[in-house]
Amino acid sequence: MTEIVLAHQVDLKTWRQAARHYALAGTPPEALSWRVAQSAEDAQRVFQVASSEQTDPNAVLHLPRRLVEWILLGLQASSPERFDALYRLVFRVVQDHLDLTTALDDPDVRSVVALVEAVKAETERFRLEFARVFADPAQTVWSATPTAYVVEGNAAYCMARYARPWEIRTAYRSMKWDGKALWFGAGGAEATAEPQGGWQQAGQGMWQDWPRTVLVPDSAEVETTTSLDALAAEAMDCRSCTLWRPAARTVFGEGAATARVMLVGEQPGDQEDQAGRPFVGPAGQVLERALEEAGLSRSTVYVTNAVKHFRFTWRNGRRLHQKPEQDSVQACQMWLDAERRLIQPALIVMMGVTAAQSLLHRPVTISRERSRIFPLGEGSQGLVTVHPSYLLRLPSEADKQREYARFVEDLRQVKAFMDSLA
Ligand code: URA
Repeated sequence: MTEIVLAHQVDLKTWRQAARHYALAGTPPEALSWRVAQSAEDAQRVFQVASSEQTDPNAVLHLPRRLVEWILLGLQASSPERFDALYRLVFRVVQDHLDLTTALDDPDVRSVVALVEAVKAETERFRLEFARVFADPAQTVWSATPTAYVVEGNAAYCMARYARPWEIRTAYRSMKWDGKALWFGAGGAEATAEPQGGWQQAGQGMWQDWPRTVLVPDSAEVETTTSLDALAAEAMDCRSCTLWRPAARTVFGEGAATARVMLVGEQPGDQEDQAGRPFVGPAGQVLERALEEAGLSRSTVYVTNAVKHFRFTWRNGRRLHQKPEQDSVQACQMWLDAERRLIQPALIVMMGVTAAQSLLHRPVTISRERSRIFPLGEGSQGLVTVHPSYLLRLPSEADKQREYARFVEDLRQVKAFMDSLA
């Protein structure tokens, strides 16, 4: 049995070198064991390919993109078995030509997918907590307790989320952003003490792979995802347009997969971006009130947006909503299509121009097309109405009341339609 020692918990550089070397040499997973160096002395044993054993330097390991993404995420899982589980898949893809797109029931594939899903869930918790902790400008250090090795993998997110300096301490890793550069250090130290061995700059030496930009979800993968939860987890790292950078997070749709009605808005606002849920701010309150007046409950419908990231501009210290550009609407189309495929709603309510254009694929004038139910294709009917934030923007109280009543009337049609299905 050959033992492979890695320099740290997410040592992608060494793991990749070893996996490439042994997979090309045809070494089966059973002949290898993997572990992380325990001390500075142990670190002398970190894997290196001896020059006498070099495989053909021109030999290329062709890995499917999906597997590359699994490796990146799977390495962050808490299980010590992860190095072996990932190598096993690499070996089988290279040596046995295992096809990952058709082998989802394969036990080796399933165990890697379980690791990846756990990392995605922990990543989401980590990001939400990070954003919450450092929302307080006085907070400079966060002692975090992640249940997976997700600190390094979220460096890019953390730097994008808060530009001012911050520091994270965990049992296994310290990470700090000084406003200009990112640093990694050993974990376990008191929040105020220098980590053992000092700080090492990201992107160099054993940290050359971090921070790493997460891969843009593959549209083929999105099209074949079979649950809303999995879809939401994939959407978390969407980089299909540039909005992910300033926004805090992807705000995915919310509601049951069995909902018969899907309500589509434009994009999350400031409060939605912070909470990670659609329609929880002022427009959401108007929507909920109108739904109730129409005899509907939010809990029985699916609520989503045409664009899943918040677009804004800073003014006087506040983030002001900006209409999404057409590029973002188009880039986000795959998520809306996938939500529609999984929910198969009988009726889709398009609230506002962005939602209507995203579903009808043509210019829309709301006043001309609102308030009637029409066939939308793929087994759904459609209804165009105003966006609830339009009601908030109307200048006079009389206009507000009149337009709100019309909005409720449109939702009553939705209620009547739902009753007709029952
Ligand atoms: N406006 C929208 O279109 N969507 C939200 O989620 C919130 C405000």
